[in-house]
Amino acid sequence: MRRVPFVESLKIIGRGSLNWLAHRPIVVSFEVTDACTCYCKHCDHGGPRDESRNLKPADYRRYTEELRPCVVQVSGGEPLMRDDAVEIVRSIKDGSRLPYTILVSNWSLMTAEKYQALHDAGIDQFSVSLDFPDERHDDFRAYPGLYRHLEDLVPRVAKFGYDDIVLNSCITSENLGEINAIADKAREWGVNLCYSAYSARRTGCRDYFPDAPEQLAELSAQLDRVKARRDQTNWIVNAPTTLEATRRYFANNGTPGCKAGLRFLVVTADGALQPCSMQFQRYTLEERERMIREFTSSNQCDQCYVSIRSYLDKSFPQLLWENVSGFLAFSSNEK
Ligand SMILES: C[S@@+](CC[C@H](N)C(=O)[O-])C[C@H]1O[C@@H](n2cnc3c(N)ncnc32)[C@H](O)[C@@H]1O
Ligand code: SF4
Ligand code: SF4
Repeated sequence: MRRVPFVESLKIIGRGSLNWLAHRPIVVSFEVTDACTCYCKHCDHGGPRDESRNLKPADYRRYTEELRPCVVQVSGGEPLMRDDAVEIVRSIKDGSRLPYTILVSNWSLMTAEKYQALHDAGIDQFSVSLDFPDERHDDFRAYPGLYRHLEDLVPRVAKFGYDDIVLNSCITSENLGEINAIADKAREWGVNLCYSAYSARRTGCRDYFPDAPEQLAELSAQLDRVKARRDQTNWIVNAPTTLEATRRYFANNGTPGCKAGLRFLVVTADGALQPCSMQFQRYTLEERERMIREFTSSNQCDQCYVSIRSYLDKSFPQLLWENVSGFLAFSSNEK
């Protein structure tokens, strides 16, 4: 994964330190639409939605200036359903290097031209969801032809040489056995890889949560092999501590200590602040501190370990160390 240049890393760390002390979020996820092209088995976002109240590209500048995040995720729903996605990114970046900006997408609507335009507008990392290393991906996402599209497009645009594409694979009971086969695919396509963990909170469905002893044994064996495959290129983006914590999350059926609302938050398509994508208390931009008082300070929810959380649960010294030692390579699966 492309290292963030040292001076830029220092700027991000500087802003991160200030935000940490000022109780401003480190990561903000803009869910730029609720609509989606897919109907994934593990998600509640599928299909068309009312888009009439979506924020406009210029609104994102106001949110970015007020929240001053180090890292922004542009997500959804499916963010590429917005015809103005490039303008949204320009509005967030405003010609500056910060915030480090990640597009989290299923890539069903991605083309080589759009990839280049989004790169030029300031996307630093493209997070591409991949649940299976073959056409089972289409079944899981209810989108025929999606895997073939990725198989054609991802290696083609990877050859542009920006080293900014990260396959984003959510571990479920369905794809446990494919954890290393997905890593093989990332290598074959010349891109990076980030694992995240299924949460039953989104849909209420426990079937995809691997918690049977034989499933946990398979998970451990697969993650041991992943660990052995790391190298200096940082192509497996998750920090080793994060993969260990993912094991514990499944084994313990949850992970306490979530800082949603404080260290990270979601801006909904119509501009409300939410602690995360699975907690629906809504606040205005001006009410961020009220969200921390009312939600974060008493939050007992331990029901996900998605990347945005796994990254920001760490203590400030650990976070600083992991980023300084490897320079910055953020993992992204949203929410
Ligand atoms: C909600 S989607 C939004 C962006 C885009 N539509 C996509 O799929 O990449 C972001 C990520 O959340 C993951 N996700 C969906 N449902 C999930 C769940 N129940 N638990 C954990 N991750 C989930 C998806 O696999 C995807 O990688
Ligand atoms: S995971 Fe992404 S692609 Fe699938 S339904 Fe949810 S938002 Fe859509
Ligand atoms: S653990 Fe935190 S981020 Fe995850 S669903 Fe609960 S409140 Fe949201």
